[in-house]
This record gives sequence, C-alpha cells and structure tokens, in this order.
Amino acid sequence: MNTPFERLGAENLKLLVDRFYDLVFSNEDISHLFKTDKEVIKEKQRLFLTQFLGGPALYSEKYGHPRLRARHMPHPISQEHAVAWLSCMSAALASLPIEENLKEELFKRFVPTAMFMVNKED
Ligand code: HEM
Repeated sequence: MNTPFERLGAENLKLLVDRFYDLVFSNEDISHLFKTDKEVIKEKQRLFLTQFLGGPALYSEKYGHPRLRARHMPHPISQEHAVAWLSCMSAALASLPIEENLKEELFKRFVPTAMFMVNKED
C-alpha cells in the first residue's frame, strides 16, 4: 500500500503548503502567531509533512526529532486557534487537484495533531 505521501506526490505537497500558509498569514485568528519569514516556515513544513505523511525523514535529518508539542510551547495556542489552523488546512486541501477521499484522509490525520498542540485555555 502506498504511503499518503506517495499518493499525494511531492508537487501537490508543495502546492498544499503554499496555499495553506497563504491562508494562515491572512487569517485574523492566527496570523499574529507567525513571526518567521513565510518562505522559511513553508520550507520547514514541507520537510515535516513529507515525513508526517510517510515519506523520507527530511525534517529530522535537518532539525532533529520534531518534538512538535515542545516546539509549539513558546506560542500560546488555544482550541480556537487549532480550529482556525484546521480550517486553513481544509481550504488548502479542497483546492488541490486530488481525489476527494485522499483529501478526507489527509484532513483526518491533521485533526488529532492540531488538538495536541493546544497549550492554553480559550
Ligand atoms: C493547532 C494549531 C497550530 C498553530 C496555531 C501553530 C502555530 C505555529 C507557530 C506559531 C509556529 C512557529 C512559526 C514561527 O517560527 O514563526 C509553528 C511552527 C511549526 N508548526 Fe505549527 N501550529 C499548529 C499546528 C501544527 C500542526 C498540526 C502541525 C503538523 C501537522 C504543525 C507543524 C509545525 C512545524 C513543522 C513547525 C516548524 C517547527 C520548527 O520551528 O522547526 N503545526 N506552528
């Protein structure tokens, strides 16, 4: 069985990350949390999602173990922020030229991870 990364493909992953951060950086609930250059964040996320979706461990090779929750700790993330993040992801997925069931499968993978990043009350 192919990995989600293989089914999505590297080109579509790039498109996804691109569209996702364009939405995040213009989202009134969460854009203020992002202080790093947009292109730098896009590249980190592309490396991370490659491995998150079962592809090669590009992020770990460059940055070490993801420790994703710990890396998010400096940023106060509420449940409302997680929902906004997921809605940007949902819209970015919807815009991709891929099958509907792959969009759904990918979205489902993001939900628990996004909720796990919540580190403060609303
Ligand atoms: C729940 C809502 C989330 C919020 C509000 C959020 C916010 C952030 C912020 C503010 C940063 C730092 C950006 C900067 O350097 O300025 C960041 C980094 C990052 N986030 Fe999230 N995030 C969320 C969920 C997620 C999820 C679900 C994933 C993965 C599936 C993820 C993956 C990453 C990665 C890979 C980085 C880069 C870490 C590094 O510095 O190496 N985030 N996020």
